[in-house]
Amino acid sequence: MLTGRRILLIVSGGIAAVKVPDLIRRLREAGAAVTPVMTRAAEEFVTPLSLAALAGHPVHRTLFDLTAEAEMGHIELSRSADLILVAPATADLMARMAAGLADDLASTLLLATDTPVLIAPAMNVRMWQHPATQRNLARLMADGIRVVGPGEGAMACGEFGPGRMAEVPDILAAVQAMLAAGPLTGRHVLVTSGPTHEPIDPVRYIANRSSGAQGTAIAAALRDLGARVTFVTGPASVPPPAGVDVVRVETAQQMLAAVQAALPADAAVMAAAVADWRVANAAPVKMKKDGTGRPPTLDFAENPDILATVSAGPDRPRLVVGFAAETHDVLAHAAAKRARKGCDWIVANDVRPATGIMGGAENAVTLLTADVAETWPRLPKDEVARRLAARIAEALS
Ligand code: C5P
Repeated sequence: MLTGRRILLIVSGGIAAVKVPDLIRRLREAGAAVTPVMTRAAEEFVTPLSLAALAGHPVHRTLFDLTAEAEMGHIELSRSADLILVAPATADLMARMAAGLADDLASTLLLATDTPVLIAPAMNVRMWQHPATQRNLARLMADGIRVVGPGEGAMACGEFGPGRMAEVPDILAAVQAMLAAGPLTGRHVLVTSGPTHEPIDPVRYIANRSSGAQGTAIAAALRDLGARVTFVTGPASVPPPAGVDVVRVETAQQMLAAVQAALPADAAVMAAAVADWRVANAAPVKMKKDGTGRPPTLDFAENPDILATVSAGPDRPRLVVGFAAETHDVLAHAAAKRARKGCDWIVANDVRPATGIMGGAENAVTLLTADVAETWPRLPKDEVARRLAARIAEALS
């Protein structure tokens, strides 16, 4: 699937570098030519000799060596690739990339290029969660850099949480997605998915039964057609697809901010089940029984309508698609919703518990556009996603 594609693989210094030999092997098995570049710190974790042997290419290590070679300076090296993959991407290298520094070969290559860049961050959970790293991540994503992972799990340092480098098959899928050519190549599509959580106090929240399965399938289908997908997801029960830019949020207000930050886009598909209300008097500390037997009173405030806001906003995507999950009079409610929210299409579905759709593997939808109401048969959610992605590609062509 990667036959003839040239990948410049930048390896920075983290323990996840020990997975790089396997990554190189898998990239080459898929047909790619891999040119490794190592930072000095990377050499503490894996030897240049082993990477060179597996890649079948010499490893580039210092800026000085490279310019001395004369036949290929750093500009040519970064330009000669179809994709630059940074794996693992340490917190330090991400910071240097975000700041535009060029103080070694890796950072210079990354600054001297207009080739698509994919990073696979890997670091200790606290380093990942530090506001500085999250700020750098947001900056890199805004600069158009694509991100795969990190995953969550046990870490080499003995801690648990997000920060593990994405698994090799997920990195491979992300590389393939970025190099895939399809009808949506060059297009940016925003997808919202999952439920939102609205806090009552620091340990309790209001949620809904959305699994995020349909939104996840839509993001994957758009990716497969070549789109760059920004996937803004609430706390879903299915993992996000590989090869899309994931932005995790909890509340409706956070989701609106993430959506606005992701614009402009050619199309937006708002599949999230956003809570209509948030708790206005959420407590800053855990609420306690006060001994009187009287339950607490929650006050609610209306959440922003993300779909309506985007539809009416200055950065409105050319095509805005909303969802309408209804339990009765599905089509009438969906048509009214399309008009009220100002979106172009509505995907309507009947989520009465008897249908098993919410949280299930299948969906039965009607696509409402300005001209038609098209009812599709009951299909696996993946297939609904593929049909919808194909229609979006047609509409944007
Ligand atoms: O009004 P209702 O929640 O049924 O509308 C569903 C559609 O509106 C979905 O596309 C959903 O993602 C979107 N929505 C939103 N922001 C809200 C509520 C719903 O974007 N606050």
